[in-house]
Formats: sequence, structure tokens, C-alpha cells
Amino acid sequence: MRILVTGGAGYIGSITTRVLVEAGHEVVVVDSLERGHRRAVDPRATLVVASVGDREVLDSLLPGIEAVIHCAGYIDVAESHDDPDLYYRKNLAEPSMMLDRMTTHGVRYLVFSSTAAVYGQPERMPITEDAETRPINTYGASKLAFERMIVLAENAGLISAVRFRYFNVAGAWPDGSLGEAHPTETHIVPLLLKAAAEPGARFTINGGDYPTADGTCVRDYLHVVDLAGAHLRAVEYLAEGCGGMACNLGSGGGYSNLEVAQMCAEVAGVKIPIIYGERRQGDPAMLIASNGQARSALGWEPRRDLRTMVEDAWRWHTTHPEGYATEG
Ligand SMILES: NC(=O)c1ccc[n+]([C@@H]2O[C@H](COP(=O)([O-])OP(=O)(O)OC[C@H]3O[C@@H](n4cnc5c(N)ncnc54)[C@H](O)[C@@H]3O)[C@@H](O)[C@H]2O)c1
Repeated sequence: MRILVTGGAGYIGSITTRVLVEAGHEVVVVDSLERGHRRAVDPRATLVVASVGDREVLDSLLPGIEAVIHCAGYIDVAESHDDPDLYYRKNLAEPSMMLDRMTTHGVRYLVFSSTAAVYGQPERMPITEDAETRPINTYGASKLAFERMIVLAENAGLISAVRFRYFNVAGAWPDGSLGEAHPTETHIVPLLLKAAAEPGARFTINGGDYPTADGTCVRDYLHVVDLAGAHLRAVEYLAEGCGGMACNLGSGGGYSNLEVAQMCAEVAGVKIPIIYGERRQGDPAMLIASNGQARSALGWEPRRDLRTMVEDAWRWHTTHPEGYATEG
């Protein structure tokens, strides 16, 4: 198939692009490079540097495209709090233009990178897709708003979509050639590995008094290559004529922050001294996905465990200490 991947120069989009290319698909990447990296784009894909809100570019690219995988977006919760307009522009207004042009050009299949943040602070674990969506930050609200636009377009019979709600994504391409390189890193695995690589660095865990086994928050981690594989399956699923859905992507299990820190220290072969800081506002004690929908509808299952995620991320980190800038 001819597939357009937005945000294909970012962490998840670049790895999804490689998975699609290796499966024999023709991929066009649209990425503004505002938070991505030209070098992350597989050379077998075509990179078009543009915003997903650029009507002219979309009108030239969309004819002949069969599916769009929309990974482009802004992802920093704290930044979304400080600058909500930016998040509604990047995660809703610009993607709305893309959706409009998709329907104009008859592109029917859409896979959307949504987030577990649409659920807010659910009480029941594991979280199923029918849980109430009550985001507690602008990031989650902006993603949910675009989900709602997608559902309206589906109800009008214009598109068919899979709205993936990712939980915590970690890991790298197994040979360490593609990995996580956010301009401002907020994710625990890369932050821990950075601390592991810096002699004397300590790591602060936010909150050590949660009602969990070791007092630290528990999250559900999924290897980015498993996640990318679900996108490949979703495109096939839509092309088979299956209806759209919201679909969690997680492992169905969880690790505490302390367990993740211990795994990072073990893989890096160093000690990472831990400090316990204040709880972060709005952080639930536990977030675990039910992945039954992804398993039953897509026939997908996660294959890689936390150790593999950390080993692959460590390979990326040690070979690219400055991210994509390392290769000069
Ligand atoms: N990384 C995670 O753990 C995680 C978890 C849940 C959801 N998500 C979602 O997955 C998606 C990808 O996340 P990521 O970690 O790869 O982020 P990333 O920042 O690495 O990649 C996003 C890419 O989108 C591009 N981009 C942003 N706005 C754009 C626009 N308007 N037009 C064109 N390109 C644009 C950026 O330049 C960047 O290359 C995001 O939409 C995010 O909300 C990520």
C-alpha cells in the first residue's frame, strides 16, 4: 500500500516507517521537523518537510495515498499546561485540516496516535476502552478532541479509523540505529539511561508513598517495535473492511518506577542513586492497559519485555549520546 506517515521523523513515526517499509509498503513521511530529525527517516521512504496543516502540500500528496498513520503531534504534558493554544493548534487544528483533505481526496483509512492521557485518572484497572474519558491535562484533552473529530467523520461514513491509545512507550530499533530523541525529554527510561551514563548523577523518583508494592507509581510499558507492529496490523485491518475503533496499546502488565530504575541500572551495569521527590500533581498510582481489544481485533500481541526495551534503548543511547546529532 501507499501510506502517508505524519511525524515520521519523530520517535514512534520513524520506527513505524521502518516497520512499514520492511513489510513492503511505500511510505511518504510528512514531518515539519520542528521536533523531529531528518536522519531518523528511513531512506527508503520519501520525506516531505511540511506541517500536517499545510493544505497545498496535502492536496499534492494525498491523491493515491490509501492510508494515513498520524503520529505527528506535541507530547509534553507540562508544556501543554503552560501553552494550551499551542497544543490545540498542533494536536487539533492542524490535524483537522489533514482530516478535511483526506475526506476530500477519498483517503479512507486513518490510524491515529492517541494516548492513555485521554482517560485521566480511571479507578478500575486494567483500563478498557469503554472507560470514561476525562483527561486532566491539555495534552490529553487535545488528543481526545481530535479523536472526537475522527468519530464524527466515521459516523458520516467518510473514513474508517483506529484510534490507538498508547500507554508508556520505550525501547529503540534493536540495532540501536533509531531511538528516542525528544528535544525536552520527559520519559523515564531515557532519563534513567542518561543518569546511568553520567558518573555521579542521581535520579529523582516523583513520590515514594503511593499505595503500590514499593511505594512508587506503576506504569504499563510497551516496546516501540511492538507498537509499530500494531500500526502495520491496523492498516491491514482497515483495508480488510473492518470498522474503526479506539484501541489501547500496552503490555497489560506494569512495572513500578523503582523496578524500571533497577532494570536500567542492571542493563547499564552501574548504580543509579535514587532520591524520592514530591509526588507530581495528577499522577495516578497505577495505569495499566487492558490490551484485549488489540489482541482480539488485530490479532496482535506484545513480544518484547522490559529488559529488551531497556537493552535496546541503552544500545541507542550509548551509540547516540547526543541523539541524531551524534552522527554529525
Ligand atoms: N512517546 C510516547 O511515549 C507517547 C505516548 C502516548 C502517545 N504518544 C503520541 O505518539 C505520537 C508520536 O510521539 P513521539 O514520541 O514519536 O513524538 P516525537 O516528538 O518524537 O515525534 C513527533 C513528530 O511530529 C512532528 N510534528 C509535530 N507537529 C507537527 C505538525 N503539525 N506537522 C508535521 N509534523 C509535526 C515533529 O517534528 C516530530 O518529528 C504523538 O502524537 C504523541 O502524542 C506518544
